[in-house]
Amino acid sequence: MKKTVEEHAARFSEKAAEYDDSKSDEYHACAGLVVDYADPNPDDVVLDLGAGTGAIALALAPDAERVLARDVSEGMMDEGRRKADERGLSNVEFTYGEFRDPEVDPDQRVDIVTSNFALHHLADDEKREAIREMAATGARRIVLGDVAFFEEPDPDAPFYGPEVDDPATVGTLVEAFTGEGFAVTAVERVHDQVTVIVAERLDGDSDEE
Ligand SMILES: C[S@@+](CC[C@H](N)C(=O)[O-])C[C@H]1O[C@@H](n2cnc3c(N)ncnc32)[C@H](O)[C@@H]1O
Repeated sequence: MKKTVEEHAARFSEKAAEYDDSKSDEYHACAGLVVDYADPNPDDVVLDLGAGTGAIALALAPDAERVLARDVSEGMMDEGRRKADERGLSNVEFTYGEFRDPEVDPDQRVDIVTSNFALHHLADDEKREAIREMAATGARRIVLGDVAFFEEPDPDAPFYGPEVDDPATVGTLVEAFTGEGFAVTAVERVHDQVTVIVAERLDGDSDEE
């Protein structure tokens, strides 16, 4: 991680009020795919990590039983809480949680884990730890949208600030999911440096309708 968790939290809290208005077309495409692939049933509990102002959490809440939104930035989560109130969504909780310690009650059922544009702040070893934690929730599906490289990194390209970001290759992320007993069922190339990866638990129930 190129900045500490506290530094990332402070950086995002500072720009939380403008965050939603500053996003690229590729970010919106990526977020849309994460929401579509997550596809919760009405009785599913979703854990959204690095939830920020709630782009994914709030979009999924109307279709899920409950959404546990976790982030390290109180400023970003305050925006998310405000939007949840505005939209009358009472089944989303924004509380502190770090990728490698999402602070989910061990008795809490989690069916789907999502994360969008956040995991790339961690170093590759830390990402593997985070993916291990995602798997340990027992979720049947994990949907990760993120900055990740299909080819050699280009520091001048968009979505990559080498001073704060530490993206993995797509292959590294796919290997991390398969190593935790998941089948990777889709890899979307939103941009040369933006992907959505869908992982389904091999020994779990298939998506019962
Ligand atoms: C670019 S924003 C993405 C927010 C949201 N997922 C979205 O799609 O708009 C990245 C978020 O990751 C959070 N974050 C950074 N490092 C984190 C960590 N180690 N654990 C949890 N969240 C983290 C930041 O606070 C920020 O809210």
